[in-house]
Amino acid sequence: MHFLHVVGARPNFMKAAPLLRSLDAKGVRQTLVHSGQHYDRNMSDVFFDQLGIREPDVNLQVGGGSHAQQTAGIMSRFEPVLLETKPDVVIVYGDVNSTTAVAIVCAKLGVKLVHVEAGLRSFDRTMPEEINRLITDQLADVLLTPSIDGNENLRREGIPESKVHLVGNIMIDTLVRLLPVADELFSKLASEHGLKSFGLVTLHRPSNVDDISKLKPIVESLDRLAADMPMIFPVHPRTRQRITEHGLKIKHLKLLDPLPYIDFLALEKHAKAVMTDSGGVQEETTYLGVPCFTLRENTERPVTVSIGTNRLVGFDLTLLECEMRKTISGARTGGLVPPLWDGKTADRIADLLISPATFSLATT
Ligand code: UD1
Ligand code: UDP
Repeated sequence: MHFLHVVGARPNFMKAAPLLRSLDAKGVRQTLVHSGQHYDRNMSDVFFDQLGIREPDVNLQVGGGSHAQQTAGIMSRFEPVLLETKPDVVIVYGDVNSTTAVAIVCAKLGVKLVHVEAGLRSFDRTMPEEINRLITDQLADVLLTPSIDGNENLRREGIPESKVHLVGNIMIDTLVRLLPVADELFSKLASEHGLKSFGLVTLHRPSNVDDISKLKPIVESLDRLAADMPMIFPVHPRTRQRITEHGLKIKHLKLLDPLPYIDFLALEKHAKAVMTDSGGVQEETTYLGVPCFTLRENTERPVTVSIGTNRLVGFDLTLLECEMRKTISGARTGGLVPPLWDGKTADRIADLLISPATFSLATT
């Protein structure tokens, strides 16, 4: 069997790395395509280095653009690659535009498609990712879910159960593997940034950063918190553009460029609290037992709220400030790690994918 993986944006790299390793260990033929959706060194190459991902065989170099431009660009550049490489199976990850563009091309050319991180739903179609999730899951032949809510969502949408497998959270495989390295790095980072007790921030959802009437009060609120305790904020390029464009004044927040994975993980593990709108960060903080405040009205990862350490604060900045202050000065309460978030998801997926029954069941 010949597997072709497609990655494109930062959160894809942590998900593809463990599966590439597991399939390599089984001697399976693999091709890696990078769409080029993310292209800065600190949004792409640095993850290939730190996570030990092989050089992509092909980079489609699509870059940025509107959703239509980016999706269409990936589709038209990926089609000839798919026709030329002729894989038996294509594997896509998560919910970014690269995921969906590739899913459409595979469906039209009749190539088997596996979706890793299937079934997540925020039930909010104003999120571009929700559209990507719905389309990709309709088109996939094999759908691999990280948690049971994913199976329930897919059942409700009429996806045959024979196509769906609960495998666990593959992002956690990368975390488990690199946590000891991150722990070792922490003291160096702490002395470099003068950190003892601190908060960590990430922010990049268009709904929070593209509208200045949202972004300005969020940044002001975080800056007020940062006046009383160190707050580290590695800034996503989308957010950096908006902060610069609008000349937002920041006095206390410590703004950094996007961090390499191990550096970010080190800070995430040792932060008193994390404030985010990232999908992956909600999951990682749950695994680490670090309190997380999510600046969104909904989440496609409800298990992080129901049993983990995540709390949705919506756009209630008074609540955010109040809860962040309480959490940072109080004792940590912790939460539970969801079933199958155990560092072994990639091996479970690899076993499934090399079993011929998986694809024959998917066609029935
Ligand atoms: C994308 C995903 C989002 C994911 C996020 C992870 C979609 C629809 N969105 O959002 O689900 O959570 O990645 O980080 O697929 N840019 C750079 N350098 C880069 C990458 C981006 O400067 O390496 C700038 C460009 O101006 C670009 C903008 O950021 O146009 C947005 O990038 P894009 O990939 O379109 O969306 P993200 O906001 O990164
Ligand atoms: N991350 C990172 N450096 C940073 C911020 C995040 O390595 O400066 C990692 C984080 O640990 C997680 C992933 O990026 O593994 C989450 O990606 P992102 O927030 O960009 O996308 P989302 O998960 O929201 O789609």
